[in-house]
Amino acid sequence: MENLKHFLLALCAAAAAGFVSIIFVLRWVLYFKEGLAWDGGLAEFNWHPVLTVTGFIFLQGIAIIVYRLPWTWQCSKLMMKFIHAGLNLLAFVFAVIAMVAVFDFHNAANIPNMYSLHSWLGLTAVILYGLQLVLGVGMYLIPVTPVSWRAAFMPLHVYSGLLLFTSVIAVALMGITEKLIFGLKDPKYKDSPPEAIFVNVLGVLLVLFGGLILWIATRTSWKRPSDQILHSLHTNGGGEDNSKVTSALSQLPDGSDAYGAGDARKRSNKSDEQSN
Ligand code: HEM
Ligand code: HEM
Repeated sequence: MENLKHFLLALCAAAAAGFVSIIFVLRWVLYFKEGLAWDGGLAEFNWHPVLTVTGFIFLQGIAIIVYRLPWTWQCSKLMMKFIHAGLNLLAFVFAVIAMVAVFDFHNAANIPNMYSLHSWLGLTAVILYGLQLVLGVGMYLIPVTPVSWRAAFMPLHVYSGLLLFTSVIAVALMGITEKLIFGLKDPKYKDSPPEAIFVNVLGVLLVLFGGLILWIATRTSWKRPSDQILHSLHTNGGGEDNSKVTSALSQLPDGSDAYGAGDARKRSNKSDEQSN
């Protein structure tokens, strides 16, 4: 891999930002707020930020970059697809439970549903994410889908995946701000109490995590080499070492885009295309 050190640096920074975000959201609800419970009250609402940050943001981010981890390049593409799809499915389950928690809390407290921009964009993101999941399975896991469809759909799959991930982070930032404005009464949000500063830092960490995941997922030189090149590396005596992977990568077409469009156009070999 080209610039393995840079990749590891970006990966460790993303992992650190992600883990610290999870610790922050847990500390927020357990120390500053009412804790966690499933009782129709505020403690039930608290599952909403916890599950969206751990599942919908952190797990989705990891699912997006899982193909980029060089030590997984020896695994078959099919196995990596199952891991990518499985992590995305888990993220979706977390998001759905997070939605149930907030709707249940609103209904129990007679608070109207779906009045804010946060809720409009948030619910839209969850629904589109479910659609992306179904289309992803249909296109890339069910073996009957024609290879030409897979290649043609890939740029859209990658674009909508990255757009959804970015939107979910923006939605979380809105939710965080709303909750601070609603929840802080005396002192108020504008008086910058410790909770407000702490949770603002959580927002900054989420943006940092998102930025690093997007950076990793859009570097062409960090893309998983095609299965055909990996296969030839293995059959030519070893090939797991990074120098060989790097030289294999340099043989890949440097498409104008990082993904399937350039690849699919330029791949002349059918078996290569099937690795999608
Ligand atoms: C409400 C989605 C993250 C705070 C809602 C509602 C949805 C939603 C659909 C409407 C519930 C209803 O009308 O009954 C999402 C999504 C998130 C997310 C998809 C993914 C990141 C967060 C976070 C917080 C938060 C991190 C921080 C505490 C709130 C608050 C409400 C709410 C305070 C009630 C006020 C309102 O309806 O806007 N959320 N949310 N949300 N969410 Fe989130
Ligand atoms: C690649 C997002 C579900 C199959 C990608 C990429 C993103 C993404 C952003 C680009 C990653 C990269 O360039 O390294 C998502 C999201 C999903 C989802 C947000 C769920 C909501 C699925 C499912 C499958 C799938 C269910 C079925 C196996 C693939 C494949 C690639 C890919 C084959 C190409 C990987 C490569 O060529 O290196 N996905 N995806 N995705 N995804 Fe998904």
